Amino acid sequence: MDTIKLKDKEFVVMIQAEEIQSRVKAIANEINLQYKGKQPLFLGVLNGAFLFMADLFKNINLLCEISFIRVASYSGTSSTGEVKNLIGLKEDIAGRHVIVVEDIVDTGDTMKYLLDELKKQNPASVKLATILFKPAALKQDVKPDYVGFEIPPAFVVGYGLDYDGLGRNFNDIYVLK
Ligand code: IMP
Ligand code: MG
Repeated sequence: MDTIKLKDKEFVVMIQAEEIQSRVKAIANEINLQYKGKQPLFLGVLNGAFLFMADLFKNINLLCEISFIRVASYSGTSSTGEVKNLIGLKEDIAGRHVIVVEDIVDTGDTMKYLLDELKKQNPASVKLATILFKPAALKQDVKPDYVGFEIPPAFVVGYGLDYDGLGRNFNDIYVLK
């Protein structure tokens, strides 16, 4: 499908499934080399990262563990506006090599918050893998270690990413028309 319609909006294909799969395999290979002899904990950020995590994880040949978390955002009454909250981290990450797996880094607000929270718990290392990165939209001092694709600051769906809950199931990535 070259275009899809989700509610009131039309999206056109931007990155084909085959390209995505080959980038994911390349990232997995890099991680396999860089973490040789280590036992990393892959920490997926729900909901968006579930497909990227599944494809990445299938290509990892290390002894490793997996877990999922959420970062909830809600508008606080404080002047800072949005308040974030880390939910679902059951593991003790002290001394662990953590690889955060995310769908997209846009302003970087979410990852800035999450990475700071994780670092408070004294992991041995924390790296960030994201399938998409919008460098032109970045407002925070966040540098993803593994990036699938750098894209312009436009709204995208598919491969786990949604518009109002829809579109996560598509294998290609689409951009708003
Ligand atoms: P950030 O905190 O601005 O970096 O935004 C991160 C979160 O916003 C991501 O985890 C996504 O859930 C969502 N997001 C940002 N850009 C897009 C997009 O283009 N499509 C769908 N979701 C997006
Ligand atoms: Mg997300």
